[in-house]
Amino acid sequence: MSIFSKLKDQTKDKDSAEEHGKCMLSRRNFLMYGSASLAAASTVTVTLFPGTAQAEQMKARVVGYPRKLVAKLSEMKDHQPIAFNYPDDGPNSQAMIVKMAGVQAGGGVGAARDIVAFNYLCTHQGGPLVGSYKATGEHRTLGQCPLHLSTFDLRRHGIIVSGQAYQSLPQVLLEVDGDEVYAVGMMGLIFGRNSNMSS
Ligand code: FES
Repeated sequence: MSIFSKLKDQTKDKDSAEEHGKCMLSRRNFLMYGSASLAAASTVTVTLFPGTAQAEQMKARVVGYPRKLVAKLSEMKDHQPIAFNYPDDGPNSQAMIVKMAGVQAGGGVGAARDIVAFNYLCTHQGGPLVGSYKATGEHRTLGQCPLHLSTFDLRRHGIIVSGQAYQSLPQVLLEVDGDEVYAVGMMGLIFGRNSNMSS
């Protein structure tokens, strides 16, 4: 039997199992359930190649990030990072949120715009940045990375200050609601992932 015939038969078996109501998820259902468990999805119409002869309208599925409570303003202390995972508990999702003692930052929240959150993995080769937060004068950094010494500027969306990395540290986008601080999205790609929401 050729490999194509075998694959065809396997597909037939799978389809018939689904038809008989066994506990199996089709790939389509899996995608639907998978995304629903993480975040709400919606559909928008986008135009590809606008203004050209190839312009084409099509539907695109937009998956939002989950909204996750990560800290309380009243419990945060200057220069004391709090660890959490985002946007899921999968590989490389380790992150931290920190209040930077009144030093305003891009994407910062709170009255002084000094609270920021970042993924904890170096964008070079995934070195762990846990425990590397530093405040020196007006500088606020994560690093040096223990592997090749990259350092990232937390005041300026995690851009590289020095070292081998060539991508900024992914920033976790925050929102404040009363005393609660929520993670609501990410800017930049988490090390080791093809998509931040794919694990
Ligand atoms: S892994 Fe961090 S600098 Fe190479």
